[in-house]
Amino acid sequence: MSLPKPKPGILDISVYVGGESEVPGVDRVIKLASNEGALGPSTKAMEAYIQETETLHRYPEGSAKKLRDALANAYGLDASRIVCGSGSDELLDMLTRAYAGVGDEVMHTEHGFLMYPISAKGVGATPIAVPENNLYADVDALIKRAGKNTKILFLANPNNPTGTYLPDSEIRRLREGLPQHVLLVIDAAYAEYVSCTDYSSGSKLVDECDNVVMTRTFSKIFALGGLRLGWAYCPSAVADVINRLRGPFNVTSPALAAGLAALNDVAFTDEVRNYTEKWFDWTKQQMIILGLEVPSQVGNFLLVRFPPTGKSAKVTNEFLKSRGLIVRGMDSYGLPDCLRITIGREDEMRALVDSLKEFLDQ
Ligand SMILES: Cc1ncc(COP(=O)(O)O)c(C=O)c1O
Repeated sequence: MSLPKPKPGILDISVYVGGESEVPGVDRVIKLASNEGALGPSTKAMEAYIQETETLHRYPEGSAKKLRDALANAYGLDASRIVCGSGSDELLDMLTRAYAGVGDEVMHTEHGFLMYPISAKGVGATPIAVPENNLYADVDALIKRAGKNTKILFLANPNNPTGTYLPDSEIRRLREGLPQHVLLVIDAAYAEYVSCTDYSSGSKLVDECDNVVMTRTFSKIFALGGLRLGWAYCPSAVADVINRLRGPFNVTSPALAAGLAALNDVAFTDEVRNYTEKWFDWTKQQMIILGLEVPSQVGNFLLVRFPPTGKSAKVTNEFLKSRGLIVRGMDSYGLPDCLRITIGREDEMRALVDSLKEFLDQ
């Protein structure tokens, strides 16, 4: 008698390990490991969440209409082509389920977000990590690698964990160079943090092309990671496909209500953006003074590279942890000489820099 067997690919998945939140024996920790919003959620979002507790016996409004309308209004989009998900992870996964399968290839960049290969393996497709150019997505290499079996290209812009981005002109050159049958998924999880004029989130390209999707999240600048809320802006045929596939109540009512309130609290989002930018620049400067390399340009985190001589990323991470400072080791992203540090509050960044100074100067 043979036992139940999972489908091919699933047992090849290395389980995603999120940022730690506790250090045994340390009471007070500072968590700078998961790119969560520095100042926490908007109080308006928290109030909206609490209000939903009175009607928790009711199913959510399954089409997320109010939130989609508000997103369309805020970003100048077509609400009928927005699909909401339980975090953008769910949307990335549904796109993979819909467009790739056994024998297909799902491309991503060398140091791309780990959920891309996980989703690909989950449907029995082969994830293809395309080498980067000095921690930047390499448009020419991606175009060259895309073949008849390539069904999806996931590109985070800006990318996590490198913190680098491609300008709009390069994304357009990429789309033009890829075969038409490849779905280009621009994962713009950190778009709200980018104010560079040559950057675009990808929504215009979605309006212009039938083979481009943009995904977004409420987990970063809106700091609602615990609620699981994301959205995708799609060509109408893709939105139709995802709507067929998704669970009818895939987003909870507290998530819908809090997301709407967070989106409407523009003043708070602006405050978070300015705050994050200020402490991003300050922390980056401090890291450079400490002799560390920081390739990251934008976002709410810094990739910090340790020089081959001197203390390694690994021992530094252990020291920081002993002080209750949790940052992210980068072995699973193929960057063992780096740590990723989320931008938190001023006191948290100062505590981190003080500890790093103490350790690296020893
Ligand atoms: C590039 C990128 N995409 C997607 C996600 C997932 O976000 P969500 O919380 O919406 O699932 C993350 C989370 O860290 C991310 O860094």
